[in-house]
Amino acid sequence: MCFGVRRAIKLVTEAAGEYGKIETLGPVAHNEQLVERLEKAGVRAVADLGQASGEAIAIPTHGVGPEVLSEIEARKLQVLDITCPIVKKAQRCAARLARAGFTVVIFGEAEHSEVKGLLGWTRGKGIAAMSAEEVAHPPALSRLGIISQTTQNRDSFVAFINQLTTAFAPFVGEFRIISTLCQAIQRRLEEAVRLARRNQLLIVIGGHNSANTRRLAEACASITETRLVAAAEEVDKSWLLGKRNIGVTAGASTPGEAIDGVVARLESLAKLVG
Ligand code: F3S
Repeated sequence: MCFGVRRAIKLVTEAAGEYGKIETLGPVAHNEQLVERLEKAGVRAVADLGQASGEAIAIPTHGVGPEVLSEIEARKLQVLDITCPIVKKAQRCAARLARAGFTVVIFGEAEHSEVKGLLGWTRGKGIAAMSAEEVAHPPALSRLGIISQTTQNRDSFVAFINQLTTAFAPFVGEFRIISTLCQAIQRRLEEAVRLARRNQLLIVIGGHNSANTRRLAEACASITETRLVAAAEEVDKSWLLGKRNIGVTAGASTPGEAIDGVVARLESLAKLVG
């Protein structure tokens, strides 16, 4: 697990121990097994603030926008902020650019929780996009800031910057680009690609709804046969037929038990298929 998720688990578990239970606004991180494990420790995810039943609410690793913080305050709830420090930094960059008069383009999926939070910090001056075509030309666009959702792929972000600066150079007087990428994710991706090059099959373990896990699988799928699984029982014996080398990697929020379970199943299936 990345340090941001490990830190979040430690903080919510301690809070649940202290208060008996704690609720989080959305899952701590996008992994169902992790959410189930935390539920047993007294950490319950609620979909929105209307469902909160305790006196305190924890903000998950991907963070929230200022409008959500104001709503929490209006409801007189205590806040346990477990937003990953890397995401916090991206939020500060978004806010700073917007305050300085930049239209802020965020490289990321508009529906991703982290991107929603980042858009909130631009206070109406942000646009989420995955390609230059998605960025409509605002009427008074003279300064353009570009940042990224923290878990995006570096190469894709660089390609996006090139596209955007080329398309908008005739209209924009000043570009400001800040890399808000998470280095832990970039290293993981590079390792996964190396592993994919050396193996005939790569198993990527993580939540099917985890964006960083899906991106790992997408990057490796162009190199070798790649399967994304959330748990051991999803591994199919037929995948192993004719394979001599199999690599295993995992997303940033995948619990160690899930990895151990998949590796154990692979080892027992390998004996069966010879
Ligand atoms: Fe934070 Fe990077 Fe993990 S942004 S939550 S350390 S993947």
